[in-house]
Amino acid sequence: MKVNVVKDIEELSLVAAKRMIEKVRRQPTTVLGLATGSTPLGTYRKLVQDFQENRTSYKHVTTFNLDEYVGLAATDKNSYHYYMNDHLFGQININQAQTFLPNGAGVDPSEECLRYEEKIRQSGGIDLQILGLGENGHIGFNEPGTSFSSQTHVVTLAETTRVANSRYFPSLADVPTEAITMGIETIMKAREILLLVSGEKKAKALREVIEGSVSETVPATVLRNHPNITIIADEASVKCL
Ligand code: GLP
Repeated sequence: MKVNVVKDIEELSLVAAKRMIEKVRRQPTTVLGLATGSTPLGTYRKLVQDFQENRTSYKHVTTFNLDEYVGLAATDKNSYHYYMNDHLFGQININQAQTFLPNGAGVDPSEECLRYEEKIRQSGGIDLQILGLGENGHIGFNEPGTSFSSQTHVVTLAETTRVANSRYFPSLADVPTEAITMGIETIMKAREILLLVSGEKKAKALREVIEGSVSETVPATVLRNHPNITIIADEASVKCL
């Protein structure tokens, strides 16, 4: 586990984007695993900027997002589909047919989970996975207590997660109660992982990841078992180490 401490979110975004660009340039058919939330926003901005300036091509790249809320259509402004189109896919030359997110508005979410997991497998697996960290140590929407052998599944969101994410919704009541997320085993199969951590609010969770014992009560601690993971953490987030 490599830990790269950077000054702030600006530097974090630069370092993460640089690794992604390098990967895509070297392997144009890269399969990227992508995350949402506020942490990767700057990274996506850097990718767009690089695309405009240097024309790094995403024409042959495939992407799989970690998660999506159940019940929100792709056109809903709070859906992760909308977020990805808005912040990244709509601004680079990616083939939209090669961008995948779980369909949270499908008729049967459990069937969607099987389909999604199979789709990742058929793509040859994820080459580079971007991850954020939940304040309670979740990755994707794998909340504390999720089995390390989980595949893509439907989750009931922890109340703390709904509260943390309510800042994007008109009110807490509007935050969905369920989501579809890649499982922990799905995430661990990625050949390389970048865990992006920014801000004091994540300091306790990050300490658990780096110094705590590996346990399903803090999902992100599983990452200690991954052979190729880099944590990019800003100064505020390493305060408790
Ligand atoms: C959400 C997402 C996670 C993300 C986390 C942290 O719960 N499902 O994938 O990592 O929030 O978000 P932020 O980066 O906004 O702190």
